[in-house]
Amino acid sequence: PKLIVVNRAGEESTVEVEDGLTVMEAIRDNGFDELLALCGGCCSCATCHVLVDPAFSDKLPEMSEDEDDLLESSDHRAQNSRLSCQVPFTSDLDGLKVTIAPED
Ligand code: FES
Repeated sequence: PKLIVVNRAGEESTVEVEDGLTVMEAIRDNGFDELLALCGGCCSCATCHVLVDPAFSDKLPEMSEDEDDLLESSDHRAQNSRLSCQVPFTSDLDGLKVTIAPED
């Protein structure tokens, strides 16, 4: 599946992603070093914050309480905020567009 990533400069890139990765891994492994993902995906750092295209919100897995709490600590939380390490990138999400959230 394809993932569209918008970096903090507003530049859009499309990357082809293997199955079985999370959105965080897909972004990081494609060289977007703006996404720090400091905790490596264990839902404890919130540096993998992205804004997800609202057209896909129905297809995303539900948010856990931990993810919700962590997002609450961000100044840039929006309706469509997610921690990208908590979203598996499946073929269902082909064409998903995510924007790397501003730095906190
Ligand atoms: Fe740390 Fe997602 S990588 S919360």
